[in-house]
Amino acid sequence: MLKLSKSKNLKPATRAVHEIRMDAIEQSPAMPPIYQTSTFAFPSAESLGEKISGGPDNEVYVYTRGSNPTQRTLEKTVAAIEGSEDAICTCSGMAAITLVAMTFLKSGDHAIVSNVTYGDTHGLFESIMRKFGVETTFVDTTDVQNIKKALRPNTKIVFFETPSNPLLRLTDIKAAAAITKPKGIRLVVDNSLMSPVFQQPIREGADISVHSLTKYLNGHSDVVGGIVLCNKKDRLELRSMLFTTGPVLDPHAAWLVLRGIKTLEVRMKKHEENALKIVKFLLSHPKVEKVYHPAVPGHPDAALAKRQMSGMPALMSVEVKGGYKAALAFINKLELFKRAVSLGGVESLAEHPASMTHAVIPKAQREAVGITDSMVRLSIGIEDAEDLIDDLRQALEG
Ligand SMILES: Cc1ncc(COP(=O)(O)O)c(C=O)c1O
Repeated sequence: MLKLSKSKNLKPATRAVHEIRMDAIEQSPAMPPIYQTSTFAFPSAESLGEKISGGPDNEVYVYTRGSNPTQRTLEKTVAAIEGSEDAICTCSGMAAITLVAMTFLKSGDHAIVSNVTYGDTHGLFESIMRKFGVETTFVDTTDVQNIKKALRPNTKIVFFETPSNPLLRLTDIKAAAAITKPKGIRLVVDNSLMSPVFQQPIREGADISVHSLTKYLNGHSDVVGGIVLCNKKDRLELRSMLFTTGPVLDPHAAWLVLRGIKTLEVRMKKHEENALKIVKFLLSHPKVEKVYHPAVPGHPDAALAKRQMSGMPALMSVEVKGGYKAALAFINKLELFKRAVSLGGVESLAEHPASMTHAVIPKAQREAVGITDSMVRLSIGIEDAEDLIDDLRQALEG
């Protein structure tokens, strides 16, 4: 109750603004509250001034662009699952990758990036970072010797996805770290496809792991978000950049991801189980030319997959016989699979990388790395596997 209200008869408009308060309760809620607030009030002008001038403090909440308890809860939760010292969340996966690039690269620096990544990651390094004076060499990181060959005295970051999107090739994180660590180069791995349940890049030697929270961590296709997993020292620098540039995750979105995370492991296991059944089906179908997935017998990264990951991805690509036209016809005939970009949600999705997720990569470059016009990417959801297989069969044979 406001002290003022005892001495003065406050009007409804004032009470409506100032009487909202949360009673402290003894019981702890199963889910944490959402701190859906842009700013935090302090008991005195001095205490607020001190906190602002005292620099970034993870646990002191002043303004939600800097930090917020719901964001912080999410950061600590994901850090705990993946085994990193700390984390910082952002408003999208691309914002997480951009935050890392903007924080740890400056004009005159050099980056080494895998030649097969999500299209906008390629675009970020190829166009935007180049505009700011950062040069990038794109190499096939599935052979880590290519990283070694591309090193320059000014190389500051090595970045790859493993498995890669949409080719599902793996890069050996430990072997890459053996090259970057002695030179003090930051090794950054996009772990969106595996989630912290199936792969922990920092435990393998990476310095930073990034996720599009939009994918498996949230898992329900209702949030766009990102997170950077890192040590406490790097987080201070990332937070300073985040506070100034502003790509923060809304507290309500952070809370939704916390809700999604509770079922992360059960979802991942079901995604994997379905994906393995679907790979088997696709391999056996006469209309299928090629399946891209580490569980395909004879896959060049099968041994690495076994060592580096504790589960199989639910993303795969497939080439259907008949080229580009047949690929689009196949996508158009699907009934349960939604025609949509993204991945990692409970629903199965189908898309055409060359004209959608990877369209930003010039055609010649795309084809040089093997992203063909006849490739269809499937994100396998958690529906019944037999229903999904029936849908794929009717689309292939229809
Ligand atoms: C592997 C990977 N990393 C990053 C991103 C970007 O994530 P967001 O869409 O949340 O910005 C995507 C998006 O599809 C992705 O597939």
